[in-house]
Amino acid sequence: VDRSSTDELITSNPVELDRGIQNCRRCPLWRDATQGVCGQGPREARLMIVGEQPGDHEDLAGQPFVGPAGQVFDAALTEAGVHRAEIYLTNAVKHFKHEPRGKRRLHRTPNAGEVQACRWWLDQERNLVKPRLIVAMGATAGLAVLGRKPSILAERGEVIETPDGARVLLTLHPSYVLRLPDVEERRRARAILVDDLRIARTEAE
Ligand code: URA
Repeated sequence: VDRSSTDELITSNPVELDRGIQNCRRCPLWRDATQGVCGQGPREARLMIVGEQPGDHEDLAGQPFVGPAGQVFDAALTEAGVHRAEIYLTNAVKHFKHEPRGKRRLHRTPNAGEVQACRWWLDQERNLVKPRLIVAMGATAGLAVLGRKPSILAERGEVIETPDGARVLLTLHPSYVLRLPDVEERRRARAILVDDLRIARTEAE
């Protein structure tokens, strides 16, 4: 049964959640994607970390953060003393938005409507995991979690309590770190990401 278009909370079952995402037609992004990428991690996770959307590698693998951004993320996590197996890792948007550029598929930032449409799935995940803390990496994740576009640089690194009772910490997106052209700037941004993940580890305990 395709229940992805009904409006009740569908499930406390991760398998059904994944199936719902695969069948999702809430926005057009499914058309050009290989598959939906559901979040990954134990339901008991105290910490949920949210990225933007699957990239090229994630779209093919069906798993979040397995490409170049994932390598930056994994290294930062390890340095912060967080075990990836213990967190719930997901994205604001579950399908890869991209445009062709020669043989490559170029990432495009999801728009507010797509983020809003996919909030349905993020809310299902939040409801399933009920984390003590949600880390939103980058502005798109921030928008999805907070319902407003945050200024990451101004608001990062501190726990924000939301009206619906959630605790949220904003930080830089690993791809942002990866894209900085200057070595020194990149080193500094990476250190910020690690610092924030350390704070998150403590705050989720
Ligand atoms: N960037 C993201 O935001 N999420 C992924 O899963 C991979 C890259």
